Amino acid sequence: MYHIISILDFSREQIDALLEKARKIDKHIEIERSLEGKQVALLFFEPSTRTRMSFASAVSRLGGTTICVDSVEGSSIIKGETLADTVRVVSGYVDAIVLRHPKEGAARLASEFATVPVINAGDGAGQHPSQTLLDLYTIRQSMPLEGINVGLIGDLRYGRTAHSLAQALSHYHVNLFTIAPNGLELPETIQLELRDMGTDICECAEVQDVIRDLDVLYVTRLQRERFPDSATYVNVQQSYKVTPQLLSGVKDHLIVLHPLPRAGEIDPAVDSLPYARYFEQARNGIPVRMAMLREVMQ
Ligand code: CP
Repeated sequence: MYHIISILDFSREQIDALLEKARKIDKHIEIERSLEGKQVALLFFEPSTRTRMSFASAVSRLGGTTICVDSVEGSSIIKGETLADTVRVVSGYVDAIVLRHPKEGAARLASEFATVPVINAGDGAGQHPSQTLLDLYTIRQSMPLEGINVGLIGDLRYGRTAHSLAQALSHYHVNLFTIAPNGLELPETIQLELRDMGTDICECAEVQDVIRDLDVLYVTRLQRERFPDSATYVNVQQSYKVTPQLLSGVKDHLIVLHPLPRAGEIDPAVDSLPYARYFEQARNGIPVRMAMLREVMQ
């Protein structure tokens, strides 16, 4: 059975093939109704707008239907049911499960108990592979991935989108520039893993030092919900912000991405600049998630 749990489970060839499928769906080269008569469970034990709604839309566009759990409180997990039992039961109702969960490793565990394919829609500070695939798709709309300079700015410790993206980009020999507030640097284990995969990583104190060298600036919010206490959050709050002034003198083809939601780290004045691609990026969730669903449910 084919699950999508981590971007590390994908080879470069598999990523490229999936992005090409998404492109064909996006351009209506391939009309897809491959989920006719099929049902997908959206189990979201953490809040979500983009991932949950775009998966729901993707299923519907493929001709399928969804059933949803939107919170721990709205499910029998609140009564003490384990995730393992939940996915065993839900496997009997549907043809695939899309799972978001606050605990790292939850999707992998779910895949061990489910009898239908599981797609990880974000597990704690771990992985967010569907976000990564749509991030790569968005970059590829503007430039080839090979050898580009990518800046990752924000909460690189708890930000799962940054982890997954950095790992995926390792297949494309990119130069990675990381810019994080004190204490929120990319975890050492991930840095080692990336370096082992041949990625050049430069840790930078200030985004101003590298902004003019970048092809992509990937901005993330502080993952406040994963901070150990509010004092830690207050110490780093507002420690970085992308503004039109910051972007003066950058490469013409620079693109600014953000998985969203944003929480003050991109000035809305940036939205009208040609560099801003984060709303297109969110829209790209539809064709990319359609391609993923087709892949696991074919
Ligand atoms: N980017 C992202 O995962 O957004 P949501 O939390 O709204 O799904």
